[in-house]
Amino acid sequence: MLPPGPRLPSLVQTAWFMRDSPGMMENLHRRYGPVFAVRFTGYPPEVYVATGELAAQVYQTDQGGGRAGAARRDFLEHMVGAHSVLTLDGDDWWRHRKLLNPPLRAKQVAGYRDEIAAIAAEKIATWPLGRPLALRERMQDITLEIIIRLIFGIRDAGRVSRLQTLLPELIETGGSMQTIMLPERLRAFAARAPFLAYGRFVRIRAEVDTILFDEIRRRRSATGAGDTDVLSRLLETGLGDQEIRDELITMLIAGHETTATGLAWAFERLLRMPEVMERLPDDEPYLDAVVKEVLRVRPAVYEAPRLLDAPLPLCEYEIPAGWYAGPYIPLVHRDPEAFPSPEEFRPERFMEGHQNRAWMPFGGGRRFCVGAQLALLEMRVIIREVLHRLELSAPDQAPEARRLKNVTLAPAKLTRVIARARTPAPMP
Ligand code: HEM
Repeated sequence: MLPPGPRLPSLVQTAWFMRDSPGMMENLHRRYGPVFAVRFTGYPPEVYVATGELAAQVYQTDQGGGRAGAARRDFLEHMVGAHSVLTLDGDDWWRHRKLLNPPLRAKQVAGYRDEIAAIAAEKIATWPLGRPLALRERMQDITLEIIIRLIFGIRDAGRVSRLQTLLPELIETGGSMQTIMLPERLRAFAARAPFLAYGRFVRIRAEVDTILFDEIRRRRSATGAGDTDVLSRLLETGLGDQEIRDELITMLIAGHETTATGLAWAFERLLRMPEVMERLPDDEPYLDAVVKEVLRVRPAVYEAPRLLDAPLPLCEYEIPAGWYAGPYIPLVHRDPEAFPSPEEFRPERFMEGHQNRAWMPFGGGRRFCVGAQLALLEMRVIIREVLHRLELSAPDQAPEARRLKNVTLAPAKLTRVIARARTPAPMP
C-alpha cells in the first residue's frame, strides 16, 4: 500500500513547500500521521517520515537499496562536479569518504579552535554598533573565511579577498531556482548568456576553478611540511587535481551556509531566552548542550533523502523503487516520545553525555555529515567570541519565522540584532 498524501496538483504542493515548508509538513503530519507522500513538480514522489525510528529505517538503506548521492545530484552536481562525496554513491563514494573523514575528526579539528576564534574576533571588530544588522550575513562572512583559510589553506590576501567575493556569488547563482530548474538540453545555450543566472554561474565557476587549480598545483610543488589545513591533508591521499577541487567545493557548499544558519538560529533563540543567555558563554558543557538544543529546535538542514533502488517497507506501507524517502528533520525533533515537552528549550536534554538517536541535525546512517565536529566547534567558539565582546538585543521580540534559503531553513529576517560593545571604551 502506498502512503497517504495530499491530492493537490504537484505545482500547488511545490508552491506551498516553497512558501512555508515547516507549516506544510506539520499540517500533513497531523492529517496523515508519521509517513506521508508529497509530489514536487519535475521530481519523483517524496516520502517524509516523522520519527527517529522510521528515519533509522531509511538510513538503513545506505547499506543497499537507497542512494543519497543520486538524491542530491540534480541540485548539486553542476557546482560540486562529478567527484564529490555529496553526489557519489557505492564504492566511489566510500573511496572519497575514507579520505575525507580523518582531517575532519573531532581530534583533528580541535586544533582549529584558536584560529576560528581569531577569525571571529577580527570580523566582530568590524560590525556596526547601535543599529540593526542581519546577523546571518555576518555569520556567513565568518564561516566563509574559516573555509578559505582552514579548509582550503589559502593565505595570500589577494586570493582570500577574491574568493570572498566569488564564492557567495557561486552559491547564489548555482543554487538559484532558475539554475536548478534549467533543463539539461538548454544548459549549453544558457552557459553563453550572461543575463541568465546559469550564464553568470558558469563564468564565476571558471574563475573559482582557476584559483583552486592554481593553488593545488602550487601546493603540490611546495614542501609545506606542518600545514594543518584540509587541502594539505587531501594532497597526501593520491586524489587527482579534479577530485580535490570537487571536494573543496563540496566542503564549501555543505559547510558554509549550514553552519551560518545554525549560528543565526542560536542567536535568534538566545535573544528570546535571557535565562539561558545568562549562563553563557563560559560554562563549556552548558554551551555545548545549548548548541545541540538549538540544532534540535531549529535544524538548519530540513531533510536527508535517499533515492530508493528497491521497495522500502515503512509501517504498513511499501514505498516503491524510484521514489525519494527521508526524514523531515524538524518533525522528528518535535516527536514527544523522543523529546518530552518538545516545544520547550531545554539544553539539559544533552547534558552529561545523553545520546538520543532521534537527534539528527547532521542526518544519519553511513552518509552522516562528515563536517559535524567542525560545525559544532565553530558554533561553540563563535558564540563565545560574540558574547564576550558584544551585548546583543533584538529590535523585535517576536520569534523569526523559518524560511527556505538555498539548502537551509533560515530565520526570515536573518536574525536582526542590535550590537553594543560590552565594556564602554576607556575615556581618552
Ligand atoms: C550546522 C552545520 C551543518 C549541518 C546542519 C549539516 C547537515 C548535514 C546533513 C543533514 C547532511 C546529510 C546527511 C545524510 O544524508 O544523512 C550533511 C552531509 C554532509 N555534510 Fe554537513 N552539515 C553542517 C556542516 C558541515 C560542514 C562544516 C561540512 C564540511 C566541512 C559539511 C560537509 C558535509 C558533507 C561532505 C556531507 C555529505 C556526506 C556524505 O554524503 O557522505 N557539513 N550535512
